[in-house]
Amino acid sequence: MKNLTIIDSPLIRRDMTYLRDKETKEYQFRLALRRIAYCLAIEIGKEFQLSEREVVTPLETTTGHRLKQQIVLVPVLRAGLSLVNSFIEMIPEAKVGHIGIQRDEQTLQPVDYYYKTPKNLDVSKVIILDPMLATGGSASAAAAFLKKRGANDIIMACLIAAPEGVRKLQNDHPEIPVFTAQLDRQLNENGYILPGLGDAGDRTFGTL
Ligand code: PRP
Ligand code: URA
Repeated sequence: MKNLTIIDSPLIRRDMTYLRDKETKEYQFRLALRRIAYCLAIEIGKEFQLSEREVVTPLETTTGHRLKQQIVLVPVLRAGLSLVNSFIEMIPEAKVGHIGIQRDEQTLQPVDYYYKTPKNLDVSKVIILDPMLATGGSASAAAAFLKKRGANDIIMACLIAAPEGVRKLQNDHPEIPVFTAQLDRQLNENGYILPGLGDAGDRTFGTL
């Protein structure tokens, strides 16, 4: 699949197993998710551009770097919130917008209920955060909203993607790269990812 990066390491596979395991307790689930989110942030950070700046060490003056572009993190509520802290720790200068989208469980269509984004999206690198890319409806709607607000440099970050969701996002927004920790097999008849981890929001926030 084009424009798809699957980050992989033994540590991610170990943590993905915790996430999938239905016996995993909430605190372990959150910790594993947080560790994978660090890995995602590091991998996505390789896409950032730098500008040079002078830095004075205790011994001499040398050339250092700063991020060239404003970075805007946009978690898709609710489950996307689970990725924010790790990204903020790696990119403390990032601004954070929020998009509230909930999938209608009957129609599987995204229903939006909240938007708040920082200014200057047109000159920012915008990273959509959502652990699950299932049908792709929520991610595609989030991207369409951000583009309407001027964003033209968007990355999608997720933990588990279904091939159906990647195809939808690539079809609707072919310029948006997708970074995921795992590409799963398929969706079931209820739009859940297989083998997946169940409902990411419910498992993160204990609302099962
Ligand atoms: C989940 C998930 C995505 C969406 C993915 O959220 O966090 O936002 O489903 O499904 P899709 O690709 O088919 O649109 P959900 O709608 O369950 O809301 P929640 O985060 O409030 O639990
Ligand atoms: N949303 C989830 O949380 N999990 C899925 O498998 C699909 C959509």
